[in-house]
Amino acid sequence: MAPAAFVAILCLAGAAAASAAEAGCGANTSLAGYRADLRMSQHQLRGRVEVLDGCSFRVAALDLLPGSASARWWRADGTDLDALARGEPAAADPLDRTFRSESLVFHLLPGLSWPLVPVLAAYDPLTSSLFGFVRLPGANASSDPSSSSAAPTMLDSCAHLSPRFRVRWTLHEANNSVDIGLEAAVGSEYYMAFGWAEPGAAEPPSVIGADLVVAGFTEDGLPFADDYYVTKYSECLLRDDGSVEGVCPDTIYGRNHSSSASAGLVNGTRLVYGHRRDGVSFVRFSRPLAPKDSKYDVAVNATRNMTVVWAIGLLRPPDSLRPYYLPLMSRGGAFSFAKLNLSDASGGCVGPLDAEDKEDQARITAERKTPLVVTVGPALHYPNPPNYDKVLYINKKEAPLLKVERGVPVTFSVEAGHDVPLYITSDPVGGNATARNTPEVIYAGGPEAEGVRATPTELVWLPDRNTPDLVYYQSLYDQKMGWKIQVVDGGLSDMYNNSVLLDDQQVTFFWTLSGDSINIAARGEKKSGYLAIGFGSAMVNSYAYVGWVDGNGKGHVKSYWIDGKDGMSVHETHENVTHKRCRSENGAIVFEFTRPLTPSCSGRVECKNIIDPTTPLKVIWAMGAQWSSGPLSLKNMHSDTSNRPIRILLLSGLAEAVEDLRPVLAVHGFMMFVAWAIFLPGGIMAARYLKHLKGDLWFQAHTYLQYSSIAVMLLGVLFAVAELRGFSFKSRHARIGAVAFTFACVQPINAYLRPHKMEDREPSSGNRTVWEYLHHFTGRSAALAGIVALFTGLQHLGHRKMGAWQHRRRRYS
Ligand SMILES: *[C@@H]1O[C@H](CO)[C@@H](O)[C@H](O)[C@H]1NC(C)=O
Ligand SMILES: *[C@@H]1O[C@H](CO)[C@@H](O)[C@H](O)[C@H]1NC(C)=O
Ligand SMILES: *[C@@H]1O[C@H](CO)[C@@H](O)[C@H](O)[C@H]1NC(C)=O
Ligand SMILES: *[C@@H]1O[C@H](CO)[C@@H](O)[C@H](O)[C@H]1NC(C)=O
Ligand SMILES: *[C@@H]1O[C@H](CO)[C@@H](O)[C@H](O)[C@H]1NC(C)=O
Ligand SMILES: *[C@@H]1O[C@H](CO)[C@@H](O)[C@H](O)[C@H]1NC(C)=O
Ligand SMILES: *[C@@H]1O[C@H](CO)[C@@H](O)[C@H](O)[C@H]1NC(C)=O
Ligand SMILES: *[C@@H]1O[C@H](CO)[C@@H](O)[C@H](O)[C@H]1NC(C)=O
Ligand SMILES: *[C@@H]1O[C@H](CO)[C@@H](O)[C@H](O)[C@H]1NC(C)=O
Ligand SMILES: *[C@@H]1O[C@H](CO)[C@@H](O)[C@H](O)[C@H]1NC(C)=O
Repeated sequence: MAPAAFVAILCLAGAAAASAAEAGCGANTSLAGYRADLRMSQHQLRGRVEVLDGCSFRVAALDLLPGSASARWWRADGTDLDALARGEPAAADPLDRTFRSESLVFHLLPGLSWPLVPVLAAYDPLTSSLFGFVRLPGANASSDPSSSSAAPTMLDSCAHLSPRFRVRWTLHEANNSVDIGLEAAVGSEYYMAFGWAEPGAAEPPSVIGADLVVAGFTEDGLPFADDYYVTKYSECLLRDDGSVEGVCPDTIYGRNHSSSASAGLVNGTRLVYGHRRDGVSFVRFSRPLAPKDSKYDVAVNATRNMTVVWAIGLLRPPDSLRPYYLPLMSRGGAFSFAKLNLSDASGGCVGPLDAEDKEDQARITAERKTPLVVTVGPALHYPNPPNYDKVLYINKKEAPLLKVERGVPVTFSVEAGHDVPLYITSDPVGGNATARNTPEVIYAGGPEAEGVRATPTELVWLPDRNTPDLVYYQSLYDQKMGWKIQVVDGGLSDMYNNSVLLDDQQVTFFWTLSGDSINIAARGEKKSGYLAIGFGSAMVNSYAYVGWVDGNGKGHVKSYWIDGKDGMSVHETHENVTHKRCRSENGAIVFEFTRPLTPSCSGRVECKNIIDPTTPLKVIWAMGAQWSSGPLSLKNMHSDTSNRPIRILLLSGLAEAVEDLRPVLAVHGFMMFVAWAIFLPGGIMAARYLKHLKGDLWFQAHTYLQYSSIAVMLLGVLFAVAELRGFSFKSRHARIGAVAFTFACVQPINAYLRPHKMEDREPSSGNRTVWEYLHHFTGRSAALAGIVALFTGLQHLGHRKMGAWQHRRRRYS
């Protein structure tokens, strides 16, 4: 009894409230029942607006990424910057959360009614960004509501292909066509491919014979959608004989046919619309269900489950040989099959795609000494529409995201024109916020920070501890010309007392000595999957510290002892490493750790890993695509490495490259030249040609020259041993040199053992003759071998130079 009565009372109350609301708004607006699709502007906004009555509207299937707390439904008399700035909130509900295909009723603020609202927008006044809008017909234009209802981003159905790739479509069976929208949270350099596999093909489905549409964006940011046909799962290959195979545009296959036929053949797909927003690509195109070209297009039956093929991957830009975009099969891509029934509108996608990286803007990191050149240019892809048609460019990049470090001064060279002074402000819109009654903090710049190319003005700004993480560079007079400045403590250079660039300038090594421990950081200067630094002369026999970020975005730092060149020789150690941190800054790895100078353990290999600040520390590095904490395979080891260690003096903060002893090599060469090309032949000449001179002058000349030659040789050998850090007979030069040196050393010994000559006039004894022949023979062999060694030595030098040169070229190409 009681519950029933209670429910009845509730119902009555509800009805009363509803009727009261209706009476308050007047249900008789001429707009009641008007429907329109929301047009997407900046964010992933989709939905259908329907006017319910004089003061409320419903938005069905509302998808929206969150704006700031001030984002609202907004009423304005236009969609340009000025009109929106003049506008006012239309409803009280904030749009500061993600809406996932929700159907909601919003009430206009008290006192508002429809005909006063020509444009209903989702707008964030704080950042002056327009997420999307519908145009409402004016009081007098209510007769034609259909004209503005079709937004190109709205399609009837949607299906997930993968978590970051969706296909949307609207079927026009009567017109024998289907409109397809491909939507993927990928970078602008990726293609999206979607199409139907050859029907009737065996299970499992094959990509061969598939009719694909490849869509993406050109370097200029323009969308394209082209018909492709697959004859082989490979990149498109053009043979010299004119045949083609791979994933190729229909047009190249069609080239073989007569011109009239090929026109009909390639006319399947028509681009309708495309944009990139929030790091999401969207391309809409239209294709016939039953195409005229039956050879390279597949007929789609809209009421059957058909196998579709999809792929995403990197695009290869056109060149003179292949004037079209080609999908690359190898890197960073994915491809799979799915079943799709075009008539089946169920399934659906919930919520907007949320890309990890929402900005296509170029990124610029301010360096301590290099000025950033500020100019103006046309707004082509301004990240936060609406905006005027001129925006700021930094280093020739349109409104890039600027990254600065606290404590590192930033220099701007302002040459954007006399009417565009630069300032750094807390206001996202800029253009003198004070004039708009908005408080702002100005960090640098002002009316005088203006210049032209001939007379640029330098503006120096030092972000300090009190600078917030996000500020903006803007023009002082015009709104929305600049973009964000990310202020970081990253500032490894701020946090560590010393830093040096390691070999090749690809890795920066930071350290601070504090008591009996050392804080170390390493930052890769380019993208990689892992970064390793090692203490030692080479990777083999070094103590290595590796930082990497795993698939879940978690950073790791681990220590290893490496005693060989393969994965099995990388042994994880248990050093007392603390304060481990590893992160990826736009793909470049940064890691930090603290360790004691002297490990307090014994027995294990890492206990010998002692850092003595008074002696130079040799540091090397390596980078690669992938590291794992489990067993390492050869695949992990593929990497880019330093060519030589850098010797770092930890106390003074100085560093030098460990030279590869080329001066020593030069001294070795010079000494060997003097010994083998001057002294030794000189001695032989003296013995051969000076005998007619009086006395034993020839004999003295001969012995002095030969002994000097051997002494110089010995020094030369010692230099070579120093250079090679030991005896090594791996090279031909070393082997021939060793033979020559042995012959040369035999000479003084056998000279000492020589049988003495009898009286001058007596003929030589038999022994003496044999000895003389032997002496001549070994002497000349030594000279010959020495000359050969000289030449192989020169060859060796040439190879080394060449090797170094090739290495350098590889690095820069
Ligand atoms: C709506 O109804 C009110 C009376 O309730 C009337 O005064 C007004 O003219 C009507 N408006 C329209 C557009 O019909
Ligand atoms: C509506 O009509 C009035 C006069 O009939 C006109 O002044 C007004 O500009 C019109 N509004 C629109 C939005 O067309
Ligand atoms: C079919 O095509 C005609 C002309 O191309 C167009 O006017 C009509 O709106 C189309 N129908 C559908 C359902 O798209
Ligand atoms: C073009 O035609 C030639 C001869 O008719 C044929 O051998 C070749 O395979 C054709 N190429 C393509 C791509 O169809
Ligand atoms: C493509 O087809 C449309 C109509 O379907 C036609 O208007 C157009 O001329 C065709 N283009 C070519 C190149 O054949
Ligand atoms: C589509 O397939 C159904 C059977 O699944 C068939 O009845 C129909 O005729 C087909 N439509 C076309 C246009 O081929
Ligand atoms: C078509 O696909 C749907 C869902 O994938 C499935 O439920 C249905 O049984 C399929 N129909 C046929 C005829 O295979
Ligand atoms: C495709 O979907 C339509 C509409 O839901 C349904 O009538 C038809 O049977 C489906 N086809 C298959 C093969 O499941
Ligand atoms: C900003 O606008 C205010 C109010 O209009 C004005 O007083 C002030 O001088 C302006 N600042 C600059 C730098 O122009
Ligand atoms: C390192 O920097 C800290 C503060 O940043 C300072 O206190 C310390 O004295 C510095 N140490 C050396 C060796 O310069």
